[in-house]
Amino acid sequence: MFNVVLVEPEIPPNTGNVGRLCLATRSTLHLVKPLGFSIQDRQLKRAGLDYWHEVDLRVWDSFADLQAAQSPGARYFFLTTKVQRAYCDVRFRSGDFLVFGRETKGLPENLLAANIDSCITIPMHGTRSLNLATAAAIVLFEAVRQQY
Ligand SMILES: C[S@@+](CC[C@H](N)C(=O)[O-])C[C@H]1O[C@@H](n2cnc3c(N)ncnc32)[C@H](O)[C@@H]1O
Repeated sequence: MFNVVLVEPEIPPNTGNVGRLCLATRSTLHLVKPLGFSIQDRQLKRAGLDYWHEVDLRVWDSFADLQAAQSPGARYFFLTTKVQRAYCDVRFRSGDFLVFGRETKGLPENLLAANIDSCITIPMHGTRSLNLATAAAIVLFEAVRQQY
């Protein structure tokens, strides 16, 4: 239904959890290298439970490679704490790409700057950011909800 992109994820349980979210929503999980772990990591599989092998998983050498392999009409939304536009103000369409950054640093500044009109945020207060898998769940399930 959707495409979830994790750019340079570092923590295996987060990616395992996002894999489960993707499976539960018939979405594809894209991982952009470098990864902070091996795809065979035990913690990754544990977080994905018994289902990890069923996740529709694509691994890319770079975000540019991922984009080059998609149709020109593909839409990308970049999740960041650094903008004001709220994710719930977007009308998502099936097939959209939801792009998340790494746990320690977020998305690269150049990627955000080049796609500033497609950057969105989850409004919050009292903390610098949400956990990666939590952020992915919030936005992915809002996108799915809008399809009903
Ligand atoms: C742990 S956060 C990264 C924190 C990093 N220090 C930063 O300032 O971006 C990992 C990813 O989760 C997503 N994320 C976390 N909280 C978010 C929020 N409130 N709004 C949008 N995206 C969020 C972003 O994609 C972020 O790159």
